[in-house]
Amino acid sequence: MTRAVITHGPRPDAAADVPDIDMTTWLAGLELPSPVLTASGCAAAGRELDQFFDITTIGAVVTKSIMLNPRSGRPTPRMAETPSGMLNSIGLQGPGIDAFLDKDLEWLRARGARAVVSIAGGSVDEYTRLASKLRHVTDVAAIEVNISCPNVEDRGQVFACDPVAAAEVITAVRRNTNPGIPVLAKLSPDVTDIVAIARSVVDAGADGLSMINTLLGMVIDTDTMRPALAGITGGLSGPAIRPVAVRCVYQVHAALPEVPILGMGGIRTGLDALEFVLAGASAVSVGTVTFHDPGAPARIARELAVALAERGFESFEQAIGHAHRAPDPAPASGGPVAGHGHTLDADAPDTAVEAGVEG
Ligand SMILES: Cc1cc2nc3c(=O)[nH]c(=O)nc-3n(C[C@H](O)[C@H](O)[C@H](O)COP(=O)(O)O)c2cc1C
Repeated sequence: MTRAVITHGPRPDAAADVPDIDMTTWLAGLELPSPVLTASGCAAAGRELDQFFDITTIGAVVTKSIMLNPRSGRPTPRMAETPSGMLNSIGLQGPGIDAFLDKDLEWLRARGARAVVSIAGGSVDEYTRLASKLRHVTDVAAIEVNISCPNVEDRGQVFACDPVAAAEVITAVRRNTNPGIPVLAKLSPDVTDIVAIARSVVDAGADGLSMINTLLGMVIDTDTMRPALAGITGGLSGPAIRPVAVRCVYQVHAALPEVPILGMGGIRTGLDALEFVLAGASAVSVGTVTFHDPGAPARIARELAVALAERGFESFEQAIGHAHRAPDPAPASGGPVAGHGHTLDADAPDTAVEAGVEG
């Protein structure tokens, strides 16, 4: 690989600075012109973001998880600030699948944006019915299955925390979906062994993995001395969760290198996105940052292109999983090495992550 020479110039977010680098990526056979997508729940169906940048230029809009029937969500307050992040307990508010298909998906189709439709349910049957509703809908680029939902038939046990229940959902969705449409299983980090869950859903037919969903958290208001959220607990997102997310992507890519990963969790800049790509993500989703910077998906895509070129990559694809490769030997000068190294022996122990070393 040749090293591109990037000189320091004007701000990297100016369009003229974007290097000519092939940013095409593939998610389970789905070709995307850009590896940066929105994250479910943080941009509704993309309509609001389209005022800030052309949403047809990003990889895809991942829509808010839709359920079978309309839902008003959890009571307020349902947002709380946290150090380097936020806690939410929106509770999957939404219009239900029929209204979603008529209005939101229709708008995305007319706008010419790629749509990844996120679905969520409280039972395997509900996921089955959602998948069946999508079966003959055209212009769905992929289905993301949000399995971080309580299973009403199993004492509220979250599907994503149980490899068997998670697999049942994915089997049902895969069986009832158009075979040409990739099914991505969205994993929760709130498990002891995320690789076991990943294997289970891939064996059940998931074509790819989205990771990670929010972490379960809680804030107590020290003035009222009560939980800050009406729902008591909520999902933690934003930069605070990024090291957890990167670790999850790294571990799953090491175990299942052929399975495409849509990585997310606290991405604010192109360099943050690059971390996920080096860990093994084939694309990234951008969520919480869009609340204070709605143009972030487009900006992050530009910054990522610059960061890749600065490191000598000629295409986005070359960088996927780079952190798993052994470093090149240090040059005689002892200076930094940016070469792409060689792949580690698959059987070799893979760093402190596998050994469970704590910081
Ligand atoms: C307000 C809010 C709503 C969310 N709603 C959903 C959702 O409907 N479905 C889903 O799979 N994930 C949902 N998420 C999780 C995000 O898609 C993403 O996985 C997580 O926030 C980590 O990325 P981030 O730190 O960039 O936000 C939501 C996150 C936030 C902050």
